[in-house]
This record gives sequence, C-alpha cells and structure tokens, in this order.
Amino acid sequence: MKIFVKFLLCVFLYIYSAAAWADQQGVAAGTRLLAGASTWTNQSGSTATISFTQSATQPGVYTVSGNYINNASGFNCQGTPYPLTGIYYANTQTISFSVAWSNSAADCASVTGWTGYIDISSSTLQMPTNWNLAYASPGGGKIMTGQDVFTLSTPKMMGTLLQQ
Ligand code: BTN
Repeated sequence: MKIFVKFLLCVFLYIYSAAAWADQQGVAAGTRLLAGASTWTNQSGSTATISFTQSATQPGVYTVSGNYINNASGFNCQGTPYPLTGIYYANTQTISFSVAWSNSAADCASVTGWTGYIDISSSTLQMPTNWNLAYASPGGGKIMTGQDVFTLSTPKMMGTLLQQ
C-alpha cells in the first residue's frame, strides 16, 4: 500500500513539474508576452522599444513606455529615438501609443498616435496598427493616416500580459 501511495505521489509530481515546465516555455503555445523591454520592428524598418508596467490599481492594465526610431522613407525625424508613451489592456491585447516628434536632434512639430492589438495567434507575435500623424501645414494642421504592422524581435515572455 505504501509503495502504491509513493507511486501515485511520483506520478503527481511528474505531471505537475511537466506542466510547470511547459508553462515556462510559453513560446510554442504562442500565448505569452514580454517582460522588460521588447523591440518591435515595422514594415518600414522603424522600431518601437517598449516596456510594460502593470497598474497598481487596475488589474490587467499596463502603461507603455519606451522610444521610437523612425526609419520610414519619405518622413522627417529619422534615425534617432523619440519618447513613446501609451497603454495596454491585457484582457483584449489592445494597445495605444503616441510619439511627439521632438528631441535634441530634430523637432518636426508633429505627433503620431497608433492604435492596434497584439496578435497572439501565432508564435511570431505581430502588432497590426492604424496611425494618425498630425503635422504642421501652411494655413493650419493636417492629419495623415496609415497602417503599420510591427513584429516582435525580442523573445522575453510573461503570461500576465495576456489576462486580467
Ligand atoms: C514627421 O515626418 O513629421 C515625423 C515622422 C513621422 C514618421 C511616421 S509615423 C507613422 C509612420 N510609421 C513610421 O514608422 N514612420 C511613419
């Protein structure tokens, strides 16, 4: 009887540790997101380096901060980092962030806002977005719109960014 109990205990421990190991890997399931800073690159070669910080009062809500390097041809303010801020909701994987195009290297007097979501349906994480760029124009401002798809290029994962 004692041996049978020990056997059951071993089976239980094995199943528990295997599940914990699989949970830690996460990448195969494609269901985990980033801890620390992660770098996302869009189809124009621009990069958004983002950190997620959990809200102290709202479960599943994260502030987004980091920097954006614009490498898209046809635009100004290229090649240097600009501060980025935004918000991320873990329950829907929706994200919004903005960049004011002013730093010590150049001031374009323009701002861009992106809204989108993190697509966790495949192991390569992608972030499709729509953007609005507000810029100065003679006689008033103008707004240009477009779409960027960002792909994750750093592999650190954290499960809590996917649920409340
Ligand atoms: C400007 O030209 O006024 C500032 C740079 C704007 C760059 C835009 S923001 C949307 C799109 N995605 C990019 O990565 N770059 C362009």
